[in-house]
Amino acid sequence: MMKKQTALLITAAMFCGSIAFGADAAANWTQHCASCHGKDGSGSTTMGKKLGVKDYSKEQGFSDADAAKAIKSGSGKMKAYGDKLSDADIKALVAYVRGLKK
Ligand code: HEC
Repeated sequence: MMKKQTALLITAAMFCGSIAFGADAAANWTQHCASCHGKDGSGSTTMGKKLGVKDYSKEQGFSDADAAKAIKSGSGKMKAYGDKLSDADIKALVAYVRGLKK
């Protein structure tokens, strides 16, 4: 009985932790962004080529604010993610995109 309660508490603590820190940016990138921008940010996917996404592993001609706005409110063919991702998730994604530049 005690053991079960402890396990429940630990599960609850882990759950709260993942909310506080937001979902992992890499996981969000893979789930929401990689279909167009590619896992490596190069945009060399079928969708990416069709929509003419730029190669973000080479050049990133946008500011952090531009990037956050595009993710939150959409940009051209890219839809808005403001209803799916929190501001903290978006901030983490911007940092993640920066890290894709070689
Ligand atoms: C349906 C395809 C598609 C998906 C999915 C997509 N994007 Fe985009 N994204 C685009 C296109 C098209 C552009 C505009 C062309 C460009 O700059 O490459 C763009 C532009 C951007 C820009 C540059 C904005 C600017 O002001 O120049 C960033 C940063 C970005 N996307 C990040 C993301 C992130 C992060 C996600 C996932 C949450 C995502 N994109 C999902 C297609 C997509």
